[in-house]
Amino acid sequence: MADLKVGVIGAGGRGSLARHAHKPGEGSRVVACCDVSLKVLDECREHYGDGLQTCSDYHELLKTDLDAVFICSPDFLHEEHALAAIGKVGGIYLEKPMAITIEGCDRILTEANNAGTRLFVGHNMRYMTIIRKMKSLIESGAIGEPRGVWCRHFINYGGDAYFRDWHADRKNVTGLLLQKGAHDIDVMHWLVGAYSRRVSAFGNLSVYNRCERLPEGEKGSAKFNDAHWPPLKQTGFAREMNIEDQTVMTMEMDNGILGSYLQCHFTPDSCRNYTVIGTEGRLENIGDGPDDPIMVWNKRHDYRAVGDEVYRGDPIEEGSHGGADPLIVEEFLRFVRDGGETTATPIAARMAVAAGVKATESLRSGGGALEIPDLPA
Ligand SMILES: NC(=O)c1ccc[n+]([C@@H]2O[C@H](COP(=O)([O-])OP(=O)(O)OC[C@H]3O[C@@H](n4cnc5c(N)ncnc54)[C@H](O)[C@@H]3O)[C@@H](O)[C@H]2O)c1
Repeated sequence: MADLKVGVIGAGGRGSLARHAHKPGEGSRVVACCDVSLKVLDECREHYGDGLQTCSDYHELLKTDLDAVFICSPDFLHEEHALAAIGKVGGIYLEKPMAITIEGCDRILTEANNAGTRLFVGHNMRYMTIIRKMKSLIESGAIGEPRGVWCRHFINYGGDAYFRDWHADRKNVTGLLLQKGAHDIDVMHWLVGAYSRRVSAFGNLSVYNRCERLPEGEKGSAKFNDAHWPPLKQTGFAREMNIEDQTVMTMEMDNGILGSYLQCHFTPDSCRNYTVIGTEGRLENIGDGPDDPIMVWNKRHDYRAVGDEVYRGDPIEEGSHGGADPLIVEEFLRFVRDGGETTATPIAARMAVAAGVKATESLRSGGGALEIPDLPA
């Protein structure tokens, strides 16, 4: 079996995910990287070896004979890079969010469908052991028929990651209900097997807008550090900052399932806490690490912190994002080679973007409920 030839657009930052696809002689190898940073390209040559082709213009990369490409560039470039790659490579791994507009997603879906290009969107949370366990418990009937799903997302690194560089400007991301929320919205949809049909939201920028900004002309970058506390004392924030740092969203899904999603970027701790309520019980993850427990309450009684049943996800081997990243890359490569079903799907990715975009539109226009547009034919 010849190795699949893999390229990467946006090889720094999240682009390091493609390292999981570099297994020369074992089915796939990274042969070309594109990045606007020369430092990143140097690092790529060091990691992938001197034979690696490098360039800073993605058109050049797409002239290479490639079986697959990872697109890990910033959100606002996903549509441009995906449309350029469709028809030129067999399979595309497009990082989430699929695009920053619903129209952008629909153009990608339509073009990929017309060209017969295998499109895959990087919703790696579906591959996290704790999320998979929650999904399988729900499917096995552990809480009866799901009727409600809630997510509280506490983000203690929000000020480090999203308010210093390109993320802080809505023209690059639309908003964090999309940039960050696409993951959670997709997980909520997946857990209960339904998509949002109507959404509404409130949100504001209430903390990081009060922090010291970068001097004029200086470019910011993400700076992760637990010593960055409390939020109002932090410095070095983007001058162009117009996204919300807390949001509250409600969702009406297929089959009358209701959802609520709370996202806050200035909490002291971090956790994605999902609660799913069914006709015969309630399920909730306490902590979102691979070893953290999933509680299931399925008997009637006063509140108890410990569930009537307690579960954990299957143990994982090494791997970032709770073991998800090697698994999602493995599935993508199998999909490129053989096609077939995948756990993350581009339709679901579009539905997560659509919910995030419409909720952002709602919160910036008074909080009224907005319909999610149908998928293109
Ligand atoms: N699924 C996940 O868990 C996860 C985690 C982190 C980031 N992401 C996604 O990955 C994407 C990248 O995020 P990041 O934090 O790595 O961003 P980043 O700003 O670090 O950019 C990634 C890389 O793209 C390069 N780049 C920028 N413009 C480019 C261009 N025009 N052509 C080629 N390369 C270019 C940058 O130099 C950088 O090396 C985002 O869409 C983000 O949402 C996903």
